[in-house]
Amino acid sequence: MLSLCLNYQLPKQDLHTTSDSVHLDKSNILLLGPTGSGKTLLAQTLAKCLDVPFAICDCTSLTQAGYVGEDIESVISKLLQDANYNIPKAQQGIVFLDEVDKIGAVPGIHQLRDVGGEGVQQGLLKLLEGTIVNVPERSSRRYRVDTIQVDTANILFVASGAFNGLEKVVSRRKNEKYLGFGTTSDMGSGRRAVAAAGLAHSSGDNIDEEMKEKDRLLRSLETKDLIEFGMIPEFIGRFPVVLPLHSLNEDMLVRILSEPQNALLTQYKMLFAMDKCDFTVTEAALRAIAHKANQRKTGARGLRSILEQLLLEPMYEVPHSNIIGVHIDKEVVNGKKGPEYIRLEIESQN
Ligand SMILES: Nc1ncnc2c1ncn2[C@@H]1O[C@H](COP(=O)(O)OP(=O)(O)O)[C@@H](O)[C@H]1O
Ligand SMILES: [Mg+2]
Repeated sequence: MLSLCLNYQLPKQDLHTTSDSVHLDKSNILLLGPTGSGKTLLAQTLAKCLDVPFAICDCTSLTQAGYVGEDIESVISKLLQDANYNIPKAQQGIVFLDEVDKIGAVPGIHQLRDVGGEGVQQGLLKLLEGTIVNVPERSSRRYRVDTIQVDTANILFVASGAFNGLEKVVSRRKNEKYLGFGTTSDMGSGRRAVAAAGLAHSSGDNIDEEMKEKDRLLRSLETKDLIEFGMIPEFIGRFPVVLPLHSLNEDMLVRILSEPQNALLTQYKMLFAMDKCDFTVTEAALRAIAHKANQRKTGARGLRSILEQLLLEPMYEVPHSNIIGVHIDKEVVNGKKGPEYIRLEIESQN
């Protein structure tokens, strides 16, 4: 029995480094970082590279058992699907809980039951630690539910969330004044107060400084700040590794635009190439796009919407025309002029 357990607990390559008496536990991971900093992308990339079953679950749709919404066990059933209903394989898988900050408890709601927030956190507790879950089988009909038992003790949970406004909780704990207005100490506690503080200062041209300040505060994050945010201590306690991601600055945004295999520029180049048109952007224009995206505070997500705006007209003009090139420079990005078209002169028309 013991050796059976050990076989399931250890990845094959580690077997020779451990003796029989040592029992390796998992360390669940909590990722937090601003929106558009690549948390979900990280999970998706991991899923592609890894050879273990991997499921990405959205916490926003989960509710406590018995209420309308997805049951908490659905997390494990997704993993089981990914493992092709191979139970031993699924028991070594990784579950990615996305948007975990959205199940934070909202203060004041406790007269009613907080079925989508605190209730879900409570329901997840045993799952995170290790328990036997009964998952409905794939072909179960409504009145005849067969279940499969899955042990979650060796399933790694990676939670991720934006935790918007958490840095204000940290700065309040450290009694520092956060840049800008708002964040007085009589704000109350929890998510509502954080949201109020967030609205209090949304101005600011000094976005770079603000981001650095945020990153600095998040680096000194402690568990009690997460509890203040609305996560329950039992839940946070089950995530021994807390990992803040930093925000993306302009240099990184420029690299994201051009460097990855599936970069935005490559995508648009291909789109224009379908109409036999060459799409070029200057280095300065890339910087300008990155600068604009930074102002929007939506991270790398802003890049696409800016490019869409810029290229709306060219994408309409180019198909079935004599345009063989579209050129974007800094002035175009800043709205001083329209995109440059390079046209092929066709003699036969004259
Ligand atoms: N570090 C990064 N490198 C490359 N692309 C990124 C990076 N961060 C974000 N992106 C881009 O931004 C998009 C949104 O990122 P996502 O991971 O969904 O953000 P979130 O952290 O809010 O979950 C991705 O599809 C990807 O194209
Ligand atoms: Mg995400």
